[in-house]
Amino acid sequence: MSSQTLNMTQAVQPPAAAVFPCRDLVSIRDLGPSGVEAIFQLAGLMKSRPSDFRGALAGKQMVMFFEKASLRTRLTFEAGMASMGGTTFFVDQTAGRLDAREKLSDIAHNLERWVDAIVLRTYSHTTVEGMAEHACIPVINALSDLEHPCQALADYFTLVERFGDLKNMCLAYVGDGNNVAHSLLLTNASLGSRIRMATPPGYGPDPKIVSDAREIAAQSGASIELLTDPREAVCGADAVYTDAWVSMGHEHETAEREKIFPPYQVNEALVAEAVPHAVFMHCMPAHRGLEITDGVMDSIRSVVFDQAESRLHVQKAILLLLLGGGVSRVSRNGHV
Ligand code: CP
Ligand code: NVA
Repeated sequence: MSSQTLNMTQAVQPPAAAVFPCRDLVSIRDLGPSGVEAIFQLAGLMKSRPSDFRGALAGKQMVMFFEKASLRTRLTFEAGMASMGGTTFFVDQTAGRLDAREKLSDIAHNLERWVDAIVLRTYSHTTVEGMAEHACIPVINALSDLEHPCQALADYFTLVERFGDLKNMCLAYVGDGNNVAHSLLLTNASLGSRIRMATPPGYGPDPKIVSDAREIAAQSGASIELLTDPREAVCGADAVYTDAWVSMGHEHETAEREKIFPPYQVNEALVAEAVPHAVFMHCMPAHRGLEITDGVMDSIRSVVFDQAESRLHVQKAILLLLLGGGVSRVSRNGHV
């Protein structure tokens, strides 16, 4: 390493573990405004100077158990960890739930002896919570039935890059009140931004997530409007976001949902209600012709691939903050 590179590396040390508010990323609720801010700051730095972080996680090892399919999440965690000198082990868990063969706590106490972090994509959010409770190493939620925190952080990082200060911008989310919607609500609340969410009656966000988001918003000044009319949500919005009508694990509801959701399609007529500079967002995979049209996905105002790129930078920042800041390998009950 040249002395110039060394100096730059010294100048871009991540915030100390003490200022990062959590050991795990199970929910956006773990982070609070300071945690979201720390991730965005570091992600911006890592995006602009990736080579400064080449060996930042050398020797660290991470295991990833995925009960559901993935393209973006799997590859951005794998590529991100490799780019910092770390190693990942992927376990395809799609044939059976993680805790079907043995107790989750027994798995946790095995894993913590072998690796430095655990990434989980699960059906049940309680599986991620349980792993975080029992393992004395960082646990990251890579999507559960309740939340998709890495996605929402990447989405708002994309919006910060585009709009700068988010206090006066409005994101309209149209569609299912699902895991992605929940993490967007909580991230919006932490950032003090504005969100309008239009969902069909009976498909709104989880009431506990809404009340937690409102509690955070009371401190941050964020605005949260829950609606059923997609036009009302999109009217004057700066960003229009949608996600699948049928999330993984709900496939048995497909016929019923495809009858209810068509008025919530994000199409050219709906986005015409937004401001002229509005951007169009989707976490992907997109179901073209269902929740979003080709014309909106492929529009020059679509930022779907920027969102996908942001997954990489934001998750690298999360990994470095959780693994690179001297986080203690001491469990919650004090045992090493
Ligand atoms: N957006 C997202 O999480 O994509 P994958 O399901 O492909 O990981
Ligand atoms: N809500 C979707 C997101 C996929 C990335 C799902 O859970 O299937």
